[in-house]
Amino acid sequence: MNLNGKRVVVTGGGSGIGLAMALAFADEGAAVVITGRNQTKLAAAAAKHPNISSQVCDVADEAAVVALRDAMDADGGTDVLVNNAGIMHTFDVTQGFPLEKQLQEIDIDVSGPVRLVHHFLSGMLQRESVIVNVSSGLAYAPYAPAPVYSASKAFLHSYTQSLRAQLADTAVRVVELLPPVVDTELAADLDPSFPRISPEKLVAALLKGLKNNTDEITPGQSAQLKLMSRLAPGFLFQQMNKNAKR
Ligand SMILES: NC(=O)c1ccc[n+]([C@@H]2O[C@H](COP(=O)([O-])OP(=O)(O)OC[C@H]3O[C@@H](n4cnc5c(N)ncnc54)[C@H](OP(=O)(O)O)[C@@H]3O)[C@@H](O)[C@H]2O)c1
Repeated sequence: MNLNGKRVVVTGGGSGIGLAMALAFADEGAAVVITGRNQTKLAAAAAKHPNISSQVCDVADEAAVVALRDAMDADGGTDVLVNNAGIMHTFDVTQGFPLEKQLQEIDIDVSGPVRLVHHFLSGMLQRESVIVNVSSGLAYAPYAPAPVYSASKAFLHSYTQSLRAQLADTAVRVVELLPPVVDTELAADLDPSFPRISPEKLVAALLKGLKNNTDEITPGQSAQLKLMSRLAPGFLFQQMNKNAKR
């Protein structure tokens, strides 16, 4: 896909993977709108490239999602929707980690992409467009210290497969990016023995996948996780969680 002149939304584009994506899309000539909850952070990120603008939008806030969709429509519509915003909590279920935080994780990581797709889809069906859902290699095998996060990414993987099947004969293409561990703030709590790649390397794989019409983009370790989840799921789970408390 040629991104030049395309209108792109990247949720959670103020930092980490989302910002690296926004910068790469902007370099390709796209007009990119980044979103997030923190206006100051978004403004600083948007200032990095003339093709990037920002709008505050919490993906857990339906009215804010509708306002984002309306602003995009007023400016000519959405060609690419990247559901990237996400949070991860690692916690021990025996230690009373607040339920409110667990449910917030679901509201952002699971309900967020569903909310965005629900409100953006009818406009996107009117044009050649792409939905990119950012799940995780953990969709293939859970990392026990992040139980809600891992389950959320498995949900997003399954949801994306169904979405792709339902939209197969429409103008909307559905792509899933399943990152391995990427060097961002979110990954700070992950097992330090997991190999990491840079956000820029991840985004290079995404751009290549978009150009090659790849449906499931599995950079780095994620390709191995996908294969191992089919060949030896029990062994994979054990390997992933060998340093985790049981
Ligand atoms: N890093 C990894 O190793 C890794 C691996 C696999 C998958 N992923 C996935 O990649 C995506 C990006 O992660 P990252 O590593 O770049 O994390 P990050 O550096 O923590 O960035 C996440 C971004 O999402 C935004 N965000 C969080 N909650 C939001 C909400 N409710 N509404 C809108 N924006 C929100 C944050 O901004 P505010 O807090 O200001 O809103 C932040 O800019 C996530 O979906 C994550 O699950 C990451």
